[in-house]
Amino acid sequence: MKTVQTVAEWRQLHATYHAAGKSIGLVPTMGALHAGHVSLCEKARRECDVVVVTLFVNPTQFDESTDFENYPRTDEADREKMTTAGVDLVFVPSVAEMYPSGSDYTVQENELSRDLCGAHRLGHFTGVLTVVMKLLQIIGADRAYFGEKDYQQLQLIRGMTKAFFLDTEIVPCPTIRESDGLAMSSRNVRLSSEERALAPQFYAILKSAPDAAMAEQQLRALGFVVDYIEDKTDRRFGAVRLGSTRLIDNVSR
Ligand code: PAJ
Repeated sequence: MKTVQTVAEWRQLHATYHAAGKSIGLVPTMGALHAGHVSLCEKARRECDVVVVTLFVNPTQFDESTDFENYPRTDEADREKMTTAGVDLVFVPSVAEMYPSGSDYTVQENELSRDLCGAHRLGHFTGVLTVVMKLLQIIGADRAYFGEKDYQQLQLIRGMTKAFFLDTEIVPCPTIRESDGLAMSSRNVRLSSEERALAPQFYAILKSAPDAAMAEQQLRALGFVVDYIEDKTDRRFGAVRLGSTRLIDNVSR
């Protein structure tokens, strides 16, 4: 597996892949990889000639500086997982490489990004869309893979690629869960053992409650702090906190 740190170095490689007619699959991540990320890499491996994972903990999408500072960083273990999944290349840029002009230019969406998680995490989706726009422009992939676990993020990225006529196909991938139903997340390692034991109730109640208000009531009774539970179109979306850890999930209805 190759490691590339600069845009210039990647562009040279991209030209050789392009000349050889190879299709490129992109999996953007912030590292601390788990089976959810690996499933995206495996799908890209099945569908593309060259699989590129980007590993960049994007400072502009964190609304709380402590969340950014405490974001798990597990580089060695990530490397092993990517190698096993057949990833060809990992792009690990510095903040200066990704933001040469600071945050002078951003991508802002004005509807969906203000709803659900966007209403609770100001500026979060502007940070996400800006970095994903940069990554899509840099990598020039045929397909880019995103998880349905972050459903609102996936919808916004799809909308952005359509609005700006980007040439990369956005491929949705199903949510991978622990055997007890908890959606895999890099932040799950921060749960205490008591919180971890309670966490699967989030998914169970999202699925089983007759309506959003009832789900919220049941979660509160168990000790979850509820940011929101909302039924929208054919899905139920939720975000809750257990101690200092925020969990999000969504289910079809
Ligand atoms: P990160 O949280 O590292 O997630 C990277 C990708 O893995 C996202 O597309 C996310 O939806 C997917 N993913 C995470 N948990 C998953 C699970 N349990 N099942 C399936 N897919 C899962 O999302 C981000 O990073 C960032 O916002 C990013 C898009 C990289 C921009 O910085």
